[in-house]
Amino acid sequence: MANVPNLSLNDGNTIPQLGFGVFQVPPEDTARITGQAFEVGYRHIDTAQMYGNEKGVGKAIRDSGIPREELFITSKLNNGFHEPEKARPAFDQTLDDLGLEFVDLFLIHWPLPTRYDGDFVSTWKTLIEFREDGRARSIGVSNFQPDHLARLAAETDVVPAVNQIEVHPYLVNEAARSANQAAGILTESWSPIAQGGVLDDEVITKIAAEVGRTAAQVTLRWHIQRGDIVFPKSSTPERMAENFALFDFELNDEAMRDITALDRGEEGRTGPNPDVFDFIPV
Ligand SMILES: NC(=O)c1ccc[n+]([C@@H]2O[C@H](COP(=O)([O-])OP(=O)(O)OC[C@H]3O[C@@H](n4cnc5c(N)ncnc54)[C@H](OP(=O)(O)O)[C@@H]3O)[C@@H](O)[C@H]2O)c1
Repeated sequence: MANVPNLSLNDGNTIPQLGFGVFQVPPEDTARITGQAFEVGYRHIDTAQMYGNEKGVGKAIRDSGIPREELFITSKLNNGFHEPEKARPAFDQTLDDLGLEFVDLFLIHWPLPTRYDGDFVSTWKTLIEFREDGRARSIGVSNFQPDHLARLAAETDVVPAVNQIEVHPYLVNEAARSANQAAGILTESWSPIAQGGVLDDEVITKIAAEVGRTAAQVTLRWHIQRGDIVFPKSSTPERMAENFALFDFELNDEAMRDITALDRGEEGRTGPNPDVFDFIPV
């Protein structure tokens, strides 16, 4: 959409800075809810094999009639499929379920450093194959810590285009963001409003009152001004529209600083720590 900026990735492609996430959207509701997001104006959708709703995203894409080149579709490799011989058919299935010939971005969902003998490098090399055969326009990682990125850099020639990590005012996650930036990797901030957890914060509600916006809009705008990519999830069209209206106001330096100062470090996490997370869905 005209008002969503496109950011340049390190592989020459571009990505809309604002999208729509479908984590925890039930499979049976996904086509309808994603279709509503398209109507609001979203063109960038973030799904994953783990969410179980790629088919619904695919149906919404077909039903929308929106030309493929106007869409940016991301999915992610599930945790049980890190070995190359499992990653390949899993990726085939993603394309089948989405009904697409290519995704715009495909990610390793979690590094799982305590699984697979700590080998996420061969998984990364398999994603490189998907990029080389054109079925993933861009490839990246999710939940990678700085030392995981350093290992990819030491052992392969391809730098991830993005690293999708938990970031919001209660988990500013600066070490991971800085490592991304230093390597030319864009940060995608997941759970950008901490699943609603920051919306009653007094600092944020005060700023919201000052600029005449909602707490969600202020928080999402903070991410945008920091240069990160966000894809808030909502199941209501009203909130989808609210979260999409971020480009006609600005936060001043003081407001930006005050929100960043809300960081609670590790205690601020809403999700698991990537160093120890080892969940494999059955
Ligand atoms: N890579 C990863 O490991 C990972 C992990 C988590 C998330 N993600 C991605 O990041 C996306 C966003 O994160 P998320 O879904 O966890 O959380 P989020 O976007 O921070 O928050 C979603 C929650 O906030 C509510 N909400 C949304 N807009 C609101 C508004 N304007 N006012 C009040 N409440 C609002 C939603 O409720 P309603 O739905 O009822 O409106 C929902 O409960 C996901 O959908 C997924 O694509 C990735």
